[in-house]
Amino acid sequence: MLELGPGFGATTRVLVNLTPSLTALEIDEKSARLLDGSLGERVRILHGDATRIPAEDCSFDTVVAFTMLHHVPSPAKQDQLFAETFRVLRPGGVFAGSDSLTSLGFRLIHLGDTSVTVDPGRLPDRLAAAGFERTRIATTAASFRFQGTRPLVDSTGGAGRLTTRANTPDGPRWCSPHGPVGPGLPAGLACAHGHPRAPAPARRLGGPAAVAHGPPHLRRRRSAGGPAGG
Ligand SMILES: C[S@@+](CC[C@H](N)C(=O)[O-])C[C@H]1O[C@@H](n2cnc3c(N)ncnc32)[C@H](O)[C@@H]1O
Repeated sequence: MLELGPGFGATTRVLVNLTPSLTALEIDEKSARLLDGSLGERVRILHGDATRIPAEDCSFDTVVAFTMLHHVPSPAKQDQLFAETFRVLRPGGVFAGSDSLTSLGFRLIHLGDTSVTVDPGRLPDRLAAAGFERTRIATTAASFRFQGTRPLVDSTGGAGRLTTRANTPDGPRWCSPHGPVGPGLPAGLACAHGHPRAPAPARRLGGPAAVAHGPPHLRRRRSAGGPAGG
């Protein structure tokens, strides 16, 4: 599982007991370091931006984002986060989370802070634009929960093909439930990189690293870490 925007780790401390493998990606370096200090043994903490997730294609079963979307500074950046989340999820993987709705109290708390709240009414279309299906939204007076799934079979990829396509700024990238498939190879289940699952995400906190293949912005040196996933 990948958690976006763990902050001080209130949600991370709950999640770590619910999943065998947890990675958390935090944009604020100080928060990421604090979290690494307190949970580093049990959780892989990455310092980075959820709109450019430093992880291989289809390397997670689940991605969650709690009370962080409104911190992403524009709808376009939020859509980029949805597209990146779709890319790092394996086919069949689930994106879920929650966020606050706009209210006077919420606006007062965020005076001077980034606060671009998401309209839950528009969220299904925005998630669908990133490729998600089976979207579900539940709204309360002050917040909403959401869920979307990366399809197992791509509607444009041909009948029965167990591959789905993520559209990235670098072009389409295909994944099977077993891992990435190479350009122009959407018909097969074999991983184009010679392994059944994707390798580790890029930048472990405190280490250099990166991955040897994947989208160009990830193609630097190979990470020293173990396999990703969860
Ligand atoms: C309100 S906190 C939520 C923390 C935690 N998820 C919770 O529910 O208690 C939002 C966190 O998201 C982080 N964040 C904001 N934009 C981010 C981005 N683009 N990538 C990763 N983390 C981000 C912030 O630094 C902050 O720590």
